[in-house]
Amino acid sequence: MDPHEFEKYRRILEWFKGNPQPPFKIDIELHRRCNLRCLSCSRRASPDYERLNEISKSLEMPLEKWLEIVEEAAELGVKEWHIAGGGEPMFLPSITLAVMKKIKEYGMLGIITTNGSLWTRKIIEEVVKMGWDRIHFSIDGPNEKVHDYLRQVPGTFKRVVRTLDLLNKLKKKYKTDKPMLNMNTVLSIKNYKLLPEMVKFAKKHGIEFMFVEPLIVYSKYGEMLKLKKRHLREFPQYLKKAIELAKKFGINNNFDGLEKNLDLELIEKSSKMNEVVKRDVERLEKLKVKGFLGSFLTVPCYKPWFHMTIKCNGRTTSCDVPVTGGENVKDKTLKKIWYKSEYFRNLRKALRSKKIPEFCAQCNPSHTSQRRRMRLEVLRSLDGRLYRKIKTLYEYKF
Ligand SMILES: C[S@@+](CC[C@H](N)C(=O)[O-])C[C@H]1O[C@@H](n2cnc3c(N)ncnc32)[C@H](O)[C@@H]1O
Ligand code: SF4
Repeated sequence: MDPHEFEKYRRILEWFKGNPQPPFKIDIELHRRCNLRCLSCSRRASPDYERLNEISKSLEMPLEKWLEIVEEAAELGVKEWHIAGGGEPMFLPSITLAVMKKIKEYGMLGIITTNGSLWTRKIIEEVVKMGWDRIHFSIDGPNEKVHDYLRQVPGTFKRVVRTLDLLNKLKKKYKTDKPMLNMNTVLSIKNYKLLPEMVKFAKKHGIEFMFVEPLIVYSKYGEMLKLKKRHLREFPQYLKKAIELAKKFGINNNFDGLEKNLDLELIEKSSKMNEVVKRDVERLEKLKVKGFLGSFLTVPCYKPWFHMTIKCNGRTTSCDVPVTGGENVKDKTLKKIWYKSEYFRNLRKALRSKKIPEFCAQCNPSHTSQRRRMRLEVLRSLDGRLYRKIKTLYEYKF
């Protein structure tokens, strides 16, 4: 395991041994403005859909506040940042780049998720030069027809491909392997047959990691795009082919290996993820593992022990999903919020007593598959027999 990942696991296990630890990762939403109209997006659920960019302006915190947050987090012991949220980070490049620079000045690991359509040569050059670590490009089809339909703005595919190709060129020019280029794909009825084509696209454009997420339903468009039973019956043949190709090209991904995010249950139950989480806990409880390892294995979610999300208005939560709750960084320090706030303390207490909050229904399937991997990685080093037993539960059945 790489030392960065190891540190995350170490901190979570320390908490379960009774030693509180600082947050490992913070997700930030610098603003909520966007240039695209993606059919699957949670923005589509808003009754104010056409005014979201305008509304964002009245919620956003100033750049100085974000820079202060990064500074405080670095002192607290945060190691990793993810810039995303409910908008397109590069809609406001001056704010986003300033925060990215600050994160790198403190030597923390930086990730950004973007639709890739607003990156100019100047932005790309700056990001390569600052040593930014990783970019997740959201690409939902291997061609213009599918991607531009899903993103609802013509020319989007061409623009993201241009960004990727320019990044690869500039990485070569500056002789650096950073940033790592990842691809995020939302699995839907428009692209499930194209997964093998997506692997070929990844190979052609220098993508090192493919992350595929089953679509979560937020609106009537999401309902239409979610895979139905008939699609699920056909899907394994395309998945199998994609796994073979990814192996052949050496492209790492989250649909093979320990994560297996495209398991049929995860696809079918996206938007009912609380049921999957509950079943996972019940299966693990049956193993009757004792001590801190037992309590670690049977907690429904680990986010409040390593992760914090900060929305554009300063509200904090443990992950992206809850729309309410959480205290505000405008009123309290990160340290107070993390260790002392009612929100985090109550959530940890509820999860320790196996209560699954209602909002978990809308949780990302990948959070479940990442949690499964986390448990497996810990067991692999602590209990080989249990590791093998649990691993077989998550194998694909082709
Ligand atoms: C909301 S976007 C924000 C960042 C940026 N605007 C982008 O599109 O990458 C964050 C991620 O959520 C993904 N996403 C959009 N709709 C989704 C859905 N219904 N289910 C799961 N993920 C979704 C996007 O493709 C993107 O990778
Ligand atoms: S680009 Fe991102 S934030 Fe904008 S509509 Fe698409 S998924 Fe949503």
